[in-house]
Order: sequence, then C-alpha cells, then structure tokens
Amino acid sequence: MLLEVQNVHAGYGAGPSILQGLSMAVEKGQSYCIIGPNGAGKSTLLKVICGLLHPRQGQVLFKGNPIHTLRTDQILMQGISFVPQDRSLFPDMTVRENLRMGGYILKDRKEVERRIDAVYELFPLLKERGNQLAKTLSGGQQQMLAIGRSMVLRPEIIMLDEPSLGLAPKIARQIFDSIQFLKQGGMTVLLVEQNARLGLKSADWGFVLDLGKMSFDGPADSILADERIQELYLGRQKPPRGGETA
Ligand SMILES: Nc1ncnc2c1ncn2[C@@H]1O[C@H](COP(=O)(O)OP(=O)(O)OP(=O)(O)O)[C@@H](O)[C@H]1O
Ligand SMILES: [Mg+2]
Repeated sequence: MLLEVQNVHAGYGAGPSILQGLSMAVEKGQSYCIIGPNGAGKSTLLKVICGLLHPRQGQVLFKGNPIHTLRTDQILMQGISFVPQDRSLFPDMTVRENLRMGGYILKDRKEVERRIDAVYELFPLLKERGNQLAKTLSGGQQQMLAIGRSMVLRPEIIMLDEPSLGLAPKIARQIFDSIQFLKQGGMTVLLVEQNARLGLKSADWGFVLDLGKMSFDGPADSILADERIQELYLGRQKPPRGGETA
C-alpha cells in the first residue's frame, strides 16, 4: 500500500471529531474518488493526509511510515501533493511565477526551471499563457495551473479537492481528462468530487464518506451501479427504456 489511513479521528480546535474512526487504503498507480454529502469530512480527510490538520487518534502511513505527526512541507517533500478546493493561486503573478511557487522548497533554482519546462510539455496551454497573470485565466485554465503547480515537485500521489467546482461540464471533463493523463503516466490520484458520477467514472476505485466514516468502498463502476448508493448519494436516474442502465 502506498498510503494508509488507519482509524483516524480528527476535528478542529476544541470542536467535535469530524472524522470518526476513518480508514482507507490507496495503492500505487490507481485512481480513487471520494464522494459523500456536504460536511461529511471529505476536505478534512485530505487536510489530515497532507498535515494541515493532525489526527486526535489513529495514524496515516505513507509507504509504511507514519506521516501524521509531520509538517505539511515535510509531507510535501515525501511526494504527496494537494490541490485545495480554492486552488490557492497567486492571482497577480504570472503563470510561470505561480509554477515557480510550486517549487519554492527546492534549493536548486535551475532544477525548478527545468521542471517547469517539463510541466509545459504536459500542459502546453500553460506554456502559451506563461507570461499571463493567473487572474486573467479562465476557471478551467486556473485549475490546470493549480494541477501543473503541484506537479513541479514530481509527487507520487496527487490529491485534488473538487477540481470541477465552478466549471462548465465540458471544461470539467477536460480537467478530468488531464487527471486521467497524469494517471496514465503512473501517478496515483486521490480525488474528492461533488460531481459524483463524473468523478467515479474517471476513477478505478470509489469511497463513500458519510458522517466522518467510510460507509462504502469498492470498484468505482460497482459503486456507480449500486442502487442503494444511487438513492442515497447519486440522485437516482431512471434507467432508459429497455431497462439498461447508462
Ligand atoms: N476550519 C474549520 N474549523 C471548524 N470547523 C470546520 C473547519 N473546516 C471544516 N469544518 C467543519 O467540518 C465539517 C466537515 O467539513 P469538510 O469541509 O471536511 O466537509 P466536506 O465533506 O468537504 O464538505 P463539502 O462537500 O461541503 O466540501 C463541517 O461540519 C465543517 O463545518
Ligand atoms: Mg469539501
């Protein structure tokens, strides 16, 4: 297992535990989609994995080593990257400057420039817009920049919190295509997605998080086909005439 979350309890300040005994396991090279209702704790889980929030109980293992007591920068250096829900770009900096910020913890500046050029090969659109201010990019382009920035450290696993948020369906699909492209390059992907169908369709494995626990866990296509999950979390879609489900 590349990443393991074991019986994690976590919450904010003196508040109640949001995650209540949550466990999950992530294998190298696979893609995972976490779905669940608003407030279930999906973002909180990603924050725990990347060290923005420390668990009250339980542990997080990366390649078998505990990481839940480390700082975020230390976890980042181990190969876990995080694209937060708000994308956290620097709006008044150019695309290239934003990519440089993705490598700020590397000492070798020349290496950072080389890695940015490698990101440009992955996402040529970013190269075209290299000198443009981030705030002048469209929503989809900004999301691509946030993903590109997290690639500068050459992570082993990329975690994305609602990458399709605020994007038109066509653009959201393009973002999912880019994520798929990273996965084909060997990247392990852990995705939280509000658009559960789109997210699950693009993933190998699905997790359903509810009330701070994993309530279901299985191959993404079987979660998509599960009637109970459809009713509870996906909003039921009537099968087309002839009885075949889409
Ligand atoms: N910084 C914070 N301080 C206090 N409580 C928080 C904080 N962030 C989140 N919470 C609470 O933790 C709970 C879970 O929030 P979280 O953001 O993890 O949910 P989510 O599953 O990502 O929901 P959504 O689908 O709306 O993004 C919510 O009740 C929320 O109010
Ligand atoms: Mg969230």
